[in-house]
Amino acid sequence: MSDVVTMDKIVALSKRRGFVFPTSEIYGGLGSTYDYGPYGVALRRNVKDAWWHAMVIERDDIVGLDSAILQHPRTWEASGHLESFTDPLVDCRACGQRFRADQLEDNQCPQKPSVHPGEGPNCDLTEARQFNLMLETSLGPVRDEGSIVYLRPETAQGIFANFKNVLQTSRRKPPFGIAQIGKSFRNEITTKQFIFRTREFEQMEMEFFVPPPDAEKWFLYWLDARERWYLELGLSEDHLRLRPHDPDELSHYSTGTSDIEYLFPTGWQELEGIANRGDYDLRQHAQYSGEKLEYFDQATGERYVPYVVEPAAGVDRCMLAFLVDAYDEDEQEGEKRTVLRLHPRLAPVKAAILPLVRKDGQPELAHEVHDLLRPLMLTEYDEGGSIGRRYRRQDEIGTPWAVTIDHQSLEDRTVTVRDRNSLAQDRVAIDALPGFLQDRLAGKE
Ligand code: GAP
Repeated sequence: MSDVVTMDKIVALSKRRGFVFPTSEIYGGLGSTYDYGPYGVALRRNVKDAWWHAMVIERDDIVGLDSAILQHPRTWEASGHLESFTDPLVDCRACGQRFRADQLEDNQCPQKPSVHPGEGPNCDLTEARQFNLMLETSLGPVRDEGSIVYLRPETAQGIFANFKNVLQTSRRKPPFGIAQIGKSFRNEITTKQFIFRTREFEQMEMEFFVPPPDAEKWFLYWLDARERWYLELGLSEDHLRLRPHDPDELSHYSTGTSDIEYLFPTGWQELEGIANRGDYDLRQHAQYSGEKLEYFDQATGERYVPYVVEPAAGVDRCMLAFLVDAYDEDEQEGEKRTVLRLHPRLAPVKAAILPLVRKDGQPELAHEVHDLLRPLMLTEYDEGGSIGRRYRRQDEIGTPWAVTIDHQSLEDRTVTVRDRNSLAQDRVAIDALPGFLQDRLAGKE
């Protein structure tokens, strides 16, 4: 992260270049929900692909799952969410606003913004009450008590509920994991901070089922593996740290949790949580469903309820961290340049195809080059404006390579490849271009 980055700049760039838009903007927006534009979708897809690759494709011991957002309501009784997934809230009788009782210091009084809620001359706060964060809806034609269902607040419970199905069908045995990427919903009270904390968000969670004596070993393993994942995708080491939770911070299911924190412009905050959930979830679901959720080891005759180690990350929060870390400003040819130094695997567009001029057969050859690369990676053809302006546009969305077709290209079928970071230009034969870019994408220079 450069020292020029601020959250306001990230918000502005995200809107200006089509990464993130406020939801329902034409109707005035909807509190703390966001839509992802063309480059945002591409970046998110790349984040999710990188996670899925590391968790499922590159491993023999983790399989995938896609469970429903709506689950049987008993799921949330068993998981403890109905009872414990709450925040303490206070209402102000004077202004009618609601605040988290434990975060008054982070908020302003709406009537007197120079003080915190409760400190203004008219403030009249109620006692704190527990407020459940799950969003409700109802199933079926009649809305009554029995039709209430919840939008899942985490993807994890769908994994626990399918433990037996996956165990039986995937021929795995502990230690093995089930990975899932999907939407979750929480009626968060304190939102703000752009896409850091939203009410609808996407999670990347993996539940790793292990023999109980091995839980601590795997907990440490996943702390290390998950931190490395961020570093390999380019987050700066200085902006990442591990923070073990204090005992009074632990979630109701956890016997030990550490957060991987990132230094956002607003300070150190959680990027991902890694929890040792013990056998809490499988035992709870076994009790509430009456199903046996355990593993029988035929070799030893041993029967046990596996412990679970869970790395749980958020797609939106990762995307924000990658944007913040990549953001930079410098000066090129006397002009200020905003550049996203995103890792090439994450960059929405991998290569821009730019004819130097819009005549002399250059656009035709540029289309040929575009068609050559298109099946291999997301590319963008652009012939509008000066070459300098087109480079800047691509720098701003993080495109690592700009391929320029010039008059020499027509003579010898070579193009120049400009590197976003070093600004070095290589002359490359068109036939060799796919291999040249793919090598760089794979980290081979
Ligand atoms: N299954 C465990 C679990 O859900 P969590 O710490 O509540 O743990 C895991 O969530 C990750 O999901 C967080 O580290 C964060 O990246 C993301 N996340 C949680 N709540 C979020 C929200 N309201 N908006 C955006 N991301 C969120």
